Amino acid sequence: MPDSPEYKPRYRIYQNFRLPMGFPVESFESALHYPAQQDDIFVVTYPKCGTTWTQHILWTLQHNGEPLPLGQDINRAIPHLEEVGAEFVQQLALPRFIKTHFPYQLTPHHSRAKYIYIVRNPFDCVVSFYYHTQGFVKHYDFAEGTFDQFFECFMAGEVDGGDYFDHLLSWYPHRNKPNILCLTYEQMKANPEWAVIKIARFLGPVYLEKVQDPQILERILMHTSFARMSQNQSRWSSQRPANMAPFIRKGEVGDWKNHFSAKQIQRLGEKFYATTAGTEIPAEWQNILP
Ligand code: A3P
Repeated sequence: MPDSPEYKPRYRIYQNFRLPMGFPVESFESALHYPAQQDDIFVVTYPKCGTTWTQHILWTLQHNGEPLPLGQDINRAIPHLEEVGAEFVQQLALPRFIKTHFPYQLTPHHSRAKYIYIVRNPFDCVVSFYYHTQGFVKHYDFAEGTFDQFFECFMAGEVDGGDYFDHLLSWYPHRNKPNILCLTYEQMKANPEWAVIKIARFLGPVYLEKVQDPQILERILMHTSFARMSQNQSRWSSQRPANMAPFIRKGEVGDWKNHFSAKQIQRLGEKFYATTAGTEIPAEWQNILP
């Protein structure tokens, strides 16, 4: 019942993973066995941490600053490995750009493939994830769910990305490897130009040369801005009911302050600091988190 504290989003549970209802199990299974190629470029995130933004930065980089045209779907150009499966990805032209939410140990690896890993603080992540889950009604059947109900699922790791902290702790120790670029959503927000140049430099001279052209760089920044990406949102996701928050929703750091109770701040704070103790993770968000 929607008003029960036990009311939860609906998932398909497969080998302890929660999949959105529309994701075929066969695709998930085949994704685990995708043979990564040396030229592959992966966008790696926990859900709601800036995946689509980064996908579009990659698209505009590839296309000299042109945006993804209306009528196209970013998840066909830069597909979500677990949603479409290995076979779909394998028929893409090279170099392949691939999105995944897999933790490190499940992600297909190749020593020369590149991994762009974006992290976002868990407080804003859970808020964004709540609106995501509420709005994809056919996937999650949670249209009447509350933030409080979703918060409990997130705290228990019972959401379709798996446990936020497991994902973070799986990838973060690898962030300084030469074929991994780690950026935070908050850094990208604070300085999108720096982030775009950093990504281009990581991808190599062909991409770096592009952003050294001021007109291309300006176009990339314009078309990947929150304002522009809020337009024509059918490019990023399937349709959501008009009464739900849009997919490109608010794009802010600190929106959690509008959603959390004092008790929730304490609980997620305790979990965050306990789980990340002894790592450099708290320093990533030291001016942002309680
Ligand atoms: P909010 O729900 O906080 O607004 P993902 O693509 O991983 O699902 O992440 C979605 C989050 O990234 C949403 O956060 C969305 O608004 C935000 N986002 C998408 N494009 C953005 C952009 N160009 N600039 C800033 N935030 C963006």
